[in-house]
Amino acid sequence: MSRIPLIAGNWKMNKTIDEAVKSAQALVELTADVQDVEAMVAPPFTALTALAAVFADTPIHLGAQNLFWEASGAYTGEIAPNMLTNAGCSHVIIGHSERRQYFNETDETVNRRVHAAVENNLIPVVCIGETLEERQSESTQLVLGDQLKAGLANLSAKELTHLVVAYEPIWAIGTGQAATPDMAQATHQFIRGFLHKSFGNTLANSVKILYGGSVNIDNAKELMAKPDIDGALVGGASLEAETFSQLVCFNLGED
Ligand code: PGA
Repeated sequence: MSRIPLIAGNWKMNKTIDEAVKSAQALVELTADVQDVEAMVAPPFTALTALAAVFADTPIHLGAQNLFWEASGAYTGEIAPNMLTNAGCSHVIIGHSERRQYFNETDETVNRRVHAAVENNLIPVVCIGETLEERQSESTQLVLGDQLKAGLANLSAKELTHLVVAYEPIWAIGTGQAATPDMAQATHQFIRGFLHKSFGNTLANSVKILYGGSVNIDNAKELMAKPDIDGALVGGASLEAETFSQLVCFNLGED
């Protein structure tokens, strides 16, 4: 089954509204002719509405970097799912390792967020990944299996139809030390196998599994060539429109 690749940019806590609009406009121009690959950008919350206007009538999807699971109420500092759809988002990143590390997110809160996302027709981009210590002690599969099991608990294959999983080894994020293509492929294959066992063949074959962690223009092509790697979640290399658009175009074999 062929899966349309997705190149997703996670801008993290970078760019004012003006800077975001400038980058987004450049990206729209640079990717104008691109087909057969999806692109998504997740700017800070403050730039969402402005970017929704820039990406309107373009194929570039807009994503948020997080959401809260309640619909409204006394939750100072949080953003509800329908606020994101109202701002123009189609995607939402959930459970990024930085959220887990600095903001105490757990597999259980990831699960609540995934439920809230699918109930509100937002495509969840669920991040999982192991630490260096876990990789070295050969417990990667155990850790990822636990994260998937708990993070996707009580969700049906139907609810997860549009699920995107981002495999992001923590030791590879922002370090310049990406996983090797073979290492990433083996892990992606494990993740797809897990989805197969838990949700059946149709879902396992349709879920996009992105690789994230120091993806750049030098390593992207080899990573993306692997059969179970369906795109990338890109941090640092997504901040420059020029570089990010090259990653989007790479996928088409357009050198
Ligand atoms: P990086 O970040 O590309 O800068 O390593 C990836 C991510 O955290 O999503």
